Amino acid sequence: MEYQHPEIARVAAELKRKAADLPDKQVLLRDFQLKSLYEQLRILPPEQRPAFGKELNQLKQELEELITEQTVAAQALAPIDVTAPWDLNTPPEKRPRALPASLGSTHPLMREMSVILDIFYRMGFSAIESRSLDDDFHMFTSLNFPEGHPARDDYDTFMTTEGLIAPAHTSTMQHRVLKANKAALEAGQAIAMVIPGRVFRNEDLDARHEHTFYQLEGVYVDKGINAGHLIATLKTFLEAYYGQSLEVRTQPFYFPFTEPSFEFALSCPFCQKQGCNVCSYEGWIELLGCGMIHPNVLKMADIDPAVYTGFAWGCGIDRLVLMKNGIEDIRHFESGKLEFLRQFS
Ligand code: DAH
Repeated sequence: MEYQHPEIARVAAELKRKAADLPDKQVLLRDFQLKSLYEQLRILPPEQRPAFGKELNQLKQELEELITEQTVAAQALAPIDVTAPWDLNTPPEKRPRALPASLGSTHPLMREMSVILDIFYRMGFSAIESRSLDDDFHMFTSLNFPEGHPARDDYDTFMTTEGLIAPAHTSTMQHRVLKANKAALEAGQAIAMVIPGRVFRNEDLDARHEHTFYQLEGVYVDKGINAGHLIATLKTFLEAYYGQSLEVRTQPFYFPFTEPSFEFALSCPFCQKQGCNVCSYEGWIELLGCGMIHPNVLKMADIDPAVYTGFAWGCGIDRLVLMKNGIEDIRHFESGKLEFLRQFS
């Protein structure tokens, strides 16, 4: 649009230039330069007013069109990430004010996870994180769960509409770890991996049960490995973690991916087996599942079970941290409550 009045032409050019980098173009209509043109209109000699007023109206209309274009463009943009705490298309000045990272602190589970990983690094293990979405093959088939087997019911979890699974345990990584390290194993290097990760279950929630929690999986494979190595490894870890000598106890159990399978308990580190509320006055704490890796699991990763044997375990991390810090409710961990989290900063 060409304007005949030089003042209007100047303001129009200026406002259009400004508009280009304005996140919210509504402010154009309140601009002081536009307002001063209206002031000028009021004091013009009556014969000049109609022509000036007409152009001024045209300018206002032009600015209104710019604003409408912006609104339509904003509506056409779908939210980029539906899980983000706010729509990422929101102009910066309208976003919620977030706390600066300098005021945050490491989550107690992550802090404790690095203590745990450090112990395993010192014992010669490497770590790889598990996935937050996985598939039926890694969740069940590669772990020797037959199709339709009732043992699958123990791992009731969430599924996406595409059929992907929110993993119910970190054992989903066993097959990948075995396959990826098979060549090194055959070249004489034992597989020694720990796998931290977030897992998900369809649970009835209470102070001891949460739908989302962390596990640490362990996998060790070499020639001549037996259950004695398994028990010694876990005992060494737990004694380092609790900083004291402990007794450990195994009981037979069933997991499709280990044979034999065990439930592993430790003597209560808080009362030395005298009985306290942490161990429910039992003196022992059932901590994790473990066992010797089933030959079928090794075979599925192309590792010969006649040559190599190994052990594996899966341990809930929340429980360890809960006990160590006297936390009364597991749900605090995922609650995002600052009063809770700040106690650990
Ligand atoms: N994945 C099992 C669970 O979450 C725990 C477990 C048991 C892991 C035995 C293992 C294992 O690696 O060998 O209930």
